[in-house]
Amino acid sequence: MKKNIQIAIDGPAGAGKSTIAKIVAETLGFTYIDTGAMYRAVTYKALKQNIHLDDETKLAEMLAVSTIDLKPSEKGQLVFLDGENVSAEIRSNEVTSSVSQVAAHARVRELLVAEQQKLAANGGVVMDGRDIATHVLKDAELKIFMSATVEERAKRRFIDNEKRGIKSSIETLKEEIALRDKMDSEREASPLIQAEDALFLDTTDLSIDEAAQAILKLAEEKMA
Ligand code: DC
Repeated sequence: MKKNIQIAIDGPAGAGKSTIAKIVAETLGFTYIDTGAMYRAVTYKALKQNIHLDDETKLAEMLAVSTIDLKPSEKGQLVFLDGENVSAEIRSNEVTSSVSQVAAHARVRELLVAEQQKLAANGGVVMDGRDIATHVLKDAELKIFMSATVEERAKRRFIDNEKRGIKSSIETLKEEIALRDKMDSEREASPLIQAEDALFLDTTDLSIDEAAQAILKLAEEKMA
């Protein structure tokens, strides 16, 4: 039995990656690593420091002297930036609409990818993002590419936002998601694409539990 496998989950915004990845990790007793939260933390700090989001050099310099920690808690994964809990702040509309711009820079990605590889080095991890199977964990034992229709993803973000007390409209969310998909998929540095050896999972008509069970079944086969 091979217990400490790496599970890579990629896909566009709102496909259900983080919710499902968390359940899979908890069930297997694995560590969940939300790489999107790391790009969000960098974006949050850049906005706070008024660093131009197109200034790759300044962003990389800022990141080189920053610490980003992901810590599990009862309320889910907490994100600490330079020791400060920024878990709520990094989900703001401002960060959400700017993060693709920051994530497009190769130097920002290099630094974060190195960190992500360190976090996953001992296996026993479920990592989600956009380039996990294609770049970060190329040798992951299980690779999933998860997606759902734009309509369904906007609906999920709307419900998610409501729970967080953030006001939004489904139409605006649809436009934002489509734009983010486009930016994430068309950027030069590690674009969002399905790895050749990844399995496609359409979550449009699946419940969270059904999607998690599908991945758990595959994980068990890999661990057997
Ligand atoms: O999963 P999320 O919505 O929190 O991700 C925020 C942004 O970060 C997303 O628009 C693309 C970027 N991202 C990335 O480029 N690579 C990753 N591995 C994770 C996220």
